[in-house]
Amino acid sequence: MRVWWLLLGAFALLPLHAAPPPRQAAIASAHAEATAAGQAILAAGGNAFDAAVAVAAALAVVEPESSGLGGGGFAVLHRASDGHQVFLDARERAPGAATRDMFLDARGQPDRRASVTGARAAAIPGTPALLAHLAERYGRLPLARSLAPAIELAERGVRWSEKNRQMALWRRDALAADREAARIFLRRGQVPEVGMRLKQPDLGRTLRALARDGAAGFYRGAVAERLVAGVRAGGGIWTNQDLLDYQVIEREPLRFSYGGYRFVTAPPPSSGGVALAQMFHMLSGYDRGRLDRVAQVHLYAEIFRRAYRDRAIYLGDPDHVRVPVPLLTSPEYAAGLRASIHLERALPSDYLPGIRAGDDGPDTTHFSIIDGEGNLIALTQSINLPFGAAFVPPGTGVLLNDHMDDFSVKPGTPNAFGLIGEDANAIAPGKRPLSSMTPTLMLGADRIAVLGTPGGSRIITMVFQAALAVIDGADAASVVAAPRIHHQYLPDVIAAEPEALSQSAIEALRRRGFTVSPSERPWGNMQVVIWDLASGRLDAASDPRWTVGQADVRNLEYR
Ligand code: DON
Repeated sequence: MRVWWLLLGAFALLPLHAAPPPRQAAIASAHAEATAAGQAILAAGGNAFDAAVAVAAALAVVEPESSGLGGGGFAVLHRASDGHQVFLDARERAPGAATRDMFLDARGQPDRRASVTGARAAAIPGTPALLAHLAERYGRLPLARSLAPAIELAERGVRWSEKNRQMALWRRDALAADREAARIFLRRGQVPEVGMRLKQPDLGRTLRALARDGAAGFYRGAVAERLVAGVRAGGGIWTNQDLLDYQVIEREPLRFSYGGYRFVTAPPPSSGGVALAQMFHMLSGYDRGRLDRVAQVHLYAEIFRRAYRDRAIYLGDPDHVRVPVPLLTSPEYAAGLRASIHLERALPSDYLPGIRAGDDGPDTTHFSIIDGEGNLIALTQSINLPFGAAFVPPGTGVLLNDHMDDFSVKPGTPNAFGLIGEDANAIAPGKRPLSSMTPTLMLGADRIAVLGTPGGSRIITMVFQAALAVIDGADAASVVAAPRIHHQYLPDVIAAEPEALSQSAIEALRRRGFTVSPSERPWGNMQVVIWDLASGRLDAASDPRWTVGQADVRNLEYR
């Protein structure tokens, strides 16, 4: 059995090594200025990993609602020269003084405000360490060179977009409650109009410290002092030691195969790869092409339900709890889950043994890059809710995350994304909260795809549906544009984007016992690059839903 898997793995890697490099590069990100930053670094002789530093740092400046130096993220990368593949875990960590019940009030009820807003909501950031790690271990250019475009954007200022404005309207009250956040992102207490020039000189100075001293420029010295002082003055519990202790962790990616593709994706503390592997293993028992749309949606909802149930029960930081990854991702286990799926009738979530027991915007951000040598990188980074904790330690320009809310604050109680969990994802000092971020590489005999998206709990089902579109041969623009459906075990409903289901399909699903909840708003912000191995052509596309400007750039000339 083991030998068979090894052979399968070697086979799946063959085409990538055999194919000549594309000799062009492509970037798909959520913002044209960030893509331009990556282009500039490729033009300066950088590889995909240098470009990733530039794009990630630029996104931190132009999309302050979605990610930043105060947040964390994951990357999956493939290095063309030797086939090395790695998962970079730069997820935030709970501070050393964190306790399991820190967000419960005197009556034992979750204090949701405290876990999403203000200094206590913030875990120790990982993004600055990720940028330094990428540059030092995988890049070709100095960190300072790759950070230069972001520094310029912070200091020169960027145009406030409709997306910035919408997300700020969502968190206006939280931003107004912190003097420093309000000073930077509001004007006389109100959300600025589109077109305002947002200058972030303090953030520029913090980026300069990172550029000069590497990770130490953020986690030690003057910046670290200001971060800790600001957090503690705001009622938070960070210490200097928490910052000193932060490390990016290199992990083995999670790998599985489906539909002629080898998936290289996110292991715990992301739930994404485990859930995707479970979903595709369950799906492999069916001939999807023979099912009509209603039957397909029925099947996907049942598959999603089971994977999200296991997410709630078993998944957490693998350095703190034992996560049974080999079991959960085995085809045999999926066959067991499949046995309770009936294609005539929905099985309500509370019939499955498990835990008794939002609306996801485009905060968080993803980008995908393939360079002319055939290096691949998928990177998703986040500060959680729009504008994170809406808290900026004075003088740093660093908007902090609210990722403490991705822990299971109380067993069985939903978080901001309606996700529930138990002990595996309980708060503990130094622990990383469970994530749904799923940066993914798909390696096939004819095509390679790099993909991912924001969207909270819906990230995994979006990546699943996009991967199916890739398998079916869709081009990048169709992959990102296709309407989406979602189910996450609890709440026990099928959510559907406006164009995803016809009225008759909705009625048919209801007759089968599903609750269907058509959404008025679309979700996600997917960024995809596809490499056609035979022609060497790259195809890139940015999600039409929330991308700012022309941010999918392909066929960049590459020397
Ligand atoms: O890590 C996670 O799973 C979440 N904090 C991601 C948040 C997100 O995608 C928000 N976007 N809608």
